[in-house]
Amino acid sequence: MAERKLDRTLQIRTVGLREWGNKATAYNRYEATPYSALDKLFQVYKFEEDDRLVDFGCGRGRVTFYVHNQFKIPVTGVEAHDKTFDEALKNKRTYRKKRQHIRAPITLEYALAEQYEVNEEDNCFYFFNPFSLKIFKSVIGNILKSVKRNRRTVELILYYPLPEFKEFLHLSTPFEMINKIKVPGDHGKYGKFVIYRVY
Ligand SMILES: C[S@@+](CC[C@H](N)C(=O)[O-])C[C@H]1O[C@@H](n2cnc3c(N)ncnc32)[C@H](O)[C@@H]1O
Repeated sequence: MAERKLDRTLQIRTVGLREWGNKATAYNRYEATPYSALDKLFQVYKFEEDDRLVDFGCGRGRVTFYVHNQFKIPVTGVEAHDKTFDEALKNKRTYRKKRQHIRAPITLEYALAEQYEVNEEDNCFYFFNPFSLKIFKSVIGNILKSVKRNRRTVELILYYPLPEFKEFLHLSTPFEMINKIKVPGDHGKYGKFVIYRVY
């Protein structure tokens, strides 16, 4: 399977699904962004060396390691599922073995996204449909508070953007949609990226 092969090039294991079970309906299951979608996104979307990415609900860390490997920028993955978080830590160890020369740090935080303290240098935030709209609103509120404290341009990348999330950003926040990126193959109705920016 292509996804496993691509995992091997990064020395990580990210294929598969993990449900939370019935105890947490606000938290969505683990599933990695397809590599074909990431390849397409990063043909178009480029990071500069002073950018810093946070992946909210990083799961086993596919996006985190992919971006670190390609752009060599500091990355942070925030994950609240204990077993999935342990797998992300294990992936960091195997990924790093061959990449000690990349100086940019990889930070993995075992935390709820809504409790993550936004660093004043974080300027790009990735979401692959990790949680409910209520939690998303709270996370966006934290990002905007951080921007108010420390003025900077901040971007959001949403994969698989559901209409109610886009509506919230459009009607209730200063974020502007600046790009839409279609992904190859059949990834369903919402299988695309939308990029938002606030100045
Ligand atoms: C669809 S997966 C996306 C994984 C990864 N971002 C990627 O694109 O490959 C969503 C992840 O968010 C995590 N998650 C759900 N609710 C969360 C919360 N409140 N705080 C942190 N992580 C959460 C889930 O456990 C799951 O691993």
